[in-house]
Amino acid sequence: MTKVLMVCLGNICRSPLAEGILKSKIFSFKTFVDSAGTGAYHVGEKPDKRSISIAKTNGIDISDQKARKFTVEDFDLFDFIYVMDNSNYSNVISLARNEADKLKVKLILNEVFPNENLDVPDPYYGGDFGFKNVFKMLDEACDEIAKKINSNG
Ligand code: 4NP
Repeated sequence: MTKVLMVCLGNICRSPLAEGILKSKIFSFKTFVDSAGTGAYHVGEKPDKRSISIAKTNGIDISDQKARKFTVEDFDLFDFIYVMDNSNYSNVISLARNEADKLKVKLILNEVFPNENLDVPDPYYGGDFGFKNVFKMLDEACDEIAKKINSNG
């Protein structure tokens, strides 16, 4: 079983999209995908309306997701922890207990632009264009992640 966790700050905009997009590209029943936020502001809430909408436009339903906070146990539960930006990276790494935990954490856009350490911009305070842009970035990153997972059976 390959277990993948998508992480952002609020778990209502970017990581729910990343979760939904990756699930839509995975053909294996031996893969589990989830998402979480480093902040607790929106725990229990559905994804942002704008994320639900851009996902729906692209044939993906994320409306049943519920925001939760990232916890240290996630290092035990997941094999790969993809963070959306450098701030998420610092927040997650600060909870790591050892090198093995740290090695699980990767910036998601490094899948498309290796070693460039680029951010998926936080679209929360912007308009709909930001969400369209975020969707495109995550779609490309999830293509790369899915390629690896699907080729491992
Ligand atoms: P996300 O976006 O990290 O992509 O879910 C945000 C959503 C809410 C807040 C920040 C970022 N907030 O501060 O409430």
